[in-house]
Amino acid sequence: MSEFAIRWNERYQNNDTPWDSRLVSKELIRVLKDHSIEPGRALELGCGTGTNAIYLAEQGFAVTAVDISERAIDTAAMKANEANVDIRFVLSDITDLQMVVSPFDFVFDRGCYHCVRKEKLSGFLNTLKKCTRPGSLWLTLSGNSHESDDEHIPKVSEEELKAELGDLFEFVQLREFHFEDEGERQGPLGWSALLKRKGERAD
Ligand SMILES: C[S@@+](CC[C@H](N)C(=O)[O-])C[C@H]1O[C@@H](n2cnc3c(N)ncnc32)[C@H](O)[C@@H]1O
Repeated sequence: MSEFAIRWNERYQNNDTPWDSRLVSKELIRVLKDHSIEPGRALELGCGTGTNAIYLAEQGFAVTAVDISERAIDTAAMKANEANVDIRFVLSDITDLQMVVSPFDFVFDRGCYHCVRKEKLSGFLNTLKKCTRPGSLWLTLSGNSHESDDEHIPKVSEEELKAELGDLFEFVQLREFHFEDEGERQGPLGWSALLKRKGERAD
């Protein structure tokens, strides 16, 4: 097990998971609706305990959800079973994804890109390249460098987002939003970036 897997697993084992509101992301719901994103093949990167993956499956998406923490994946699989939805859960490091991947229509991450970018950005982008096709959409929710109160959430600036993701993706929408914390409390300021994979579609 890698040092990253050990570290994330320990956080789930110790309930040191302030991001895990157990609420479906309102920003995810809004983006799906406002951009009329139809159910298709969806991939969640760093799915944690699966709340949003389950929501996507309930909306009719065929969901694959990946996380590096065995504890998180076990909890997510249990919740999916209780919710009676079928999700393909994969225990893997998304910066070095070995599984066979068909291109996904929609990729989602809430707080995963902002965690892995400092350590393994190129591996993360390789995975996105393998798992998408031109026209695929990716909604990434990340910490925002304008947030001054929360010391713990990793923060990204608008310039960093554009420099790191702009070669592979065009920005369909970039806006500020607030994460939701447990009990529907307003969480830290974030970026919501809806991205479209560049290039010509074959079909
Ligand atoms: C801030 S948490 C967010 C979890 C979930 N998306 C949510 O909103 O509750 C980041 C998640 O990414 C996972 N993660 C971090 N690095 C990863 C990696 N290299 N590969 C796969 N998952 C990773 C962690 O285990 C954790 O579940």
